[in-house]
Amino acid sequence: MALGGLGCCGAVGKAVTGATPGHYGPMRFLLAGSSGFLGTALRRHLADAGHEIRQLVRRTPASPEEVQWFPYGVGLPPTALDDVDVVVNLSGAPIGHWPWTSSYKRTLLNSRVATTQTLARALRDVGRSVTLINASAVGYYGDRGDELLTEESTPGDGLLADVVRHWEDATARAREAGQRVVMIRTAVVLDRSGGALKPMLVPFRLGVGGTIGSGRQWFPSISLNDYVRAIRWLAEYGDVDGPVNLAAPEPATNADLTVALGRALRRPTVMSVPAAAVRLALGRDLSGQLLGSLKVQPRRLLDAGFEFEQPDLVSQLNATLPHR
Ligand SMILES: NC(=O)c1ccc[n+]([C@@H]2O[C@H](COP(=O)([O-])OP(=O)(O)OC[C@H]3O[C@@H](n4cnc5c(N)ncnc54)[C@H](OP(=O)(O)O)[C@@H]3O)[C@@H](O)[C@H]2O)c1
Repeated sequence: MALGGLGCCGAVGKAVTGATPGHYGPMRFLLAGSSGFLGTALRRHLADAGHEIRQLVRRTPASPEEVQWFPYGVGLPPTALDDVDVVVNLSGAPIGHWPWTSSYKRTLLNSRVATTQTLARALRDVGRSVTLINASAVGYYGDRGDELLTEESTPGDGLLADVVRHWEDATARAREAGQRVVMIRTAVVLDRSGGALKPMLVPFRLGVGGTIGSGRQWFPSISLNDYVRAIRWLAEYGDVDGPVNLAAPEPATNADLTVALGRALRRPTVMSVPAAAVRLALGRDLSGQLLGSLKVQPRRLLDAGFEFEQPDLVSQLNATLPHR
């Protein structure tokens, strides 16, 4: 019997708030892309909450909890989904890799689309209800100036927006088969252990950190704590499906980030890097990551009652840089 059959989802979902998830009893999760920055944190968070974790790995399995899969080939063994309530797919070649050659751009796309299609096909064929929570990104919206972006907003332009659109479309087979599919349009996840913040800390600690471009571009972010909490809550709270913005509700600009980081680390932040220099150094597509403006609202999470523990940039930095 699926562990989630112990009444994990749906019926009583509305009573749950972000502060009190996890009282539905243990569920079984199957995680893909779980060896990375976010997957490692999610695994720990779910295990601490008493859930059972099985990992899909591309290499030879190293423990009984690991199951080998071939996302570009035969897929996953049918038994991989036995008793599974929720599949979380965090696969994808690193966005921060440089340079973005034509071949790497194909890898960025394929590593997301092929893995998602493989899992969506498996969920189409599994013959019972299994939730898919699939990684996605706020890059879906492109570069949008001061426009307030909710899940209802139209997709944007540019390479990353195209990648994200294909990535979300790759879940179609599971959605069409009636499975609950949540696409987590994730902002920059802030934690000193990895992701975008870790390399950012180096120049700021040296006192040479500063704004990028005009600094007026909106910089969507979320604490690692709220990221893992939100995924667990989405898994346990069975009513939400479709795109969900995983971004903190109080938006901040690149200039706000610069000031907050300078204060947190007690370093000056007088430098600024002109937009033209960033474009020259990184190329048009990758520089868009730093110069693009995304004022993202987590409308669906807020409407459904999720409570952020770090709703603003300062609390996000305080949560991960506690020794000021
Ligand atoms: N970090 C952020 O701020 C952020 C923001 C928005 C969206 N996201 C998305 O969230 C997901 C997880 O992010 P992350 O920061 O944890 O990334 P990460 O540390 O780079 O981990 C991604 C995982 O994807 C798998 N992977 C790597 N290359 C692959 C390839 N060529 N083909 C198939 N799988 C591959 C690996 O897992 P295995 O080796 O175990 O298969 C790896 O551990 C990604 O899809 C990312 O785009 C992240």
